[in-house]
Amino acid sequence: MRSDSLPVFRRFDPDSEGAALADFLAGDVWPFHAISQVDRSDVYRPVEEGLYDNTYWIEVDGERAGIVRLFDLDDDTPMFDLRISAPHRGKGLGRAAVQWLTDLLFGEYPHVERIEGTTRQDNLAMRRVFRRCGYVKEAHYRRGWPDASGHRYDSVSYAIIRHDWQTGETTVPDFHDE
Ligand SMILES: CC(C)(COP(=O)(O)OP(=O)(O)OC[C@H]1O[C@@H](n2cnc3c(N)ncnc32)[C@H](O)[C@@H]1OP(=O)(O)O)[C@@H](O)C(=O)NCCC(=O)NCCS
Repeated sequence: MRSDSLPVFRRFDPDSEGAALADFLAGDVWPFHAISQVDRSDVYRPVEEGLYDNTYWIEVDGERAGIVRLFDLDDDTPMFDLRISAPHRGKGLGRAAVQWLTDLLFGEYPHVERIEGTTRQDNLAMRRVFRRCGYVKEAHYRRGWPDASGHRYDSVSYAIIRHDWQTGETTVPDFHDE
């Protein structure tokens, strides 16, 4: 852990923290998301509609440094969105967050068999986080990720399976089966 202090994962309260979430999302640039500059006013409705019900702040020394939003929790393959604010990137928080959410999902949700995440091919930090946390690349979507200007990037999907989480093994996909 390269951050000076250990992160705390605290559940986001949709009833009282919508404005804080809007400040957080609109206060940074998210270069690898489809919408890189979030408008504050676009945050409130999704919060009211429950999209952020399973979201956690990543706090360092009492400061909001990031968020983890978990979704599709009823499914056997939930997914997540992870965002660390620019001043806190590159200090180990991304890796700590993925380890934390992986333990949470396999530990507290017995029906979960896999956890999946997709990112843009050039998001090297996120890809490194996946690999360091035991996730394995399962898919490569050529030109599958258009940005706001229409430029199409490749995207890549990673997943971890419960068996690997339990055993520490790495099961690789049977890609060359043709
Ligand atoms: C992607 C993101 C979650 C990674 O979290 P982070 O806290 O910055 O990354 P960490 O400090 O945990 O670094 C994890 C690994 O990636 C490497 N890394 C970090 N930034 C990197 C970069 N820009 N390029 C290449 N590798 C990088 C680190 O060296 C580390 O490798 P190591 O474990 O071998 O030392 C974070 O940068 C972020 O929120 N970015 C903006 C939002 C985003 O892209 N979210 C993901 C959308 S799918």
